[in-house]
Amino acid sequence: MEIRPFTASDADTVSEVHRRAFDGRTDESRIVQRLHDADEAVVSLVAVENDRIVGHVLFSPTCVTNNPDNAKLAGLAPVGVLPENQNEGVGSSLIEHGLVQCRDAGADAVVVLGDPGYYSRFGFERASVYGLDNEYGADEAFIVKPLTDGALDDVDGIVTYRQEFRLDED
Ligand SMILES: CC(C)(COP(=O)(O)OP(=O)(O)OC[C@H]1O[C@@H](n2cnc3c(N)ncnc32)[C@H](O)[C@@H]1OP(=O)(O)O)[C@@H](O)C(=O)NCCC(=O)NCCS
Repeated sequence: MEIRPFTASDADTVSEVHRRAFDGRTDESRIVQRLHDADEAVVSLVAVENDRIVGHVLFSPTCVTNNPDNAKLAGLAPVGVLPENQNEGVGSSLIEHGLVQCRDAGADAVVVLGDPGYYSRFGFERASVYGLDNEYGADEAFIVKPLTDGALDDVDGIVTYRQEFRLDED
């Protein structure tokens, strides 16, 4: 399996990957498309197996209410793997490569709204421990992984995802 950067010609295939990964729902595909159109992906990676895209992950910039030193927090969302390719390490590989590339791109931490049982293996911990909250009312599902030493020392408040996530405001 190869992990490589998303390119514009992958757009239709990546939409289909998310639509199938998320049980036919199109919200995630639309969010991905909107973030790419707005050029607001910090990192966007595809997983390729036998010349076929089988998974995709995207990290986008977030805002935090109290962030005097302008720490950069990227939001991981969405990540999707084709149903027939799940549980083969594709998602883990996308996330691990993505975390490294986020740090290389200058991110200080990554947040996710997801299952802690899955994401704890990558070093994500409960975000509220760092004084970070979210706009969706999630508690233990809102998790964070610092990428640099002391990344979150002077940061707290509500983390807000990009407007491209607000599909109801279309
Ligand atoms: C979640 C997802 C990206 C994981 O990718 P993957 O390639 O299947 O996962 P990996 O092979 O790297 O890891 C497998 C592990 O993930 C767990 N897992 C898979 N999907 C999961 C989910 N939706 N929630 C929690 N854990 C999940 C498996 O139980 C397995 O755990 P184990 O290692 O303890 O046995 C993929 O299953 C998927 O696309 N799911 C549908 C879309 C989705 O829910 N995306 C995440 C929210 S943004």
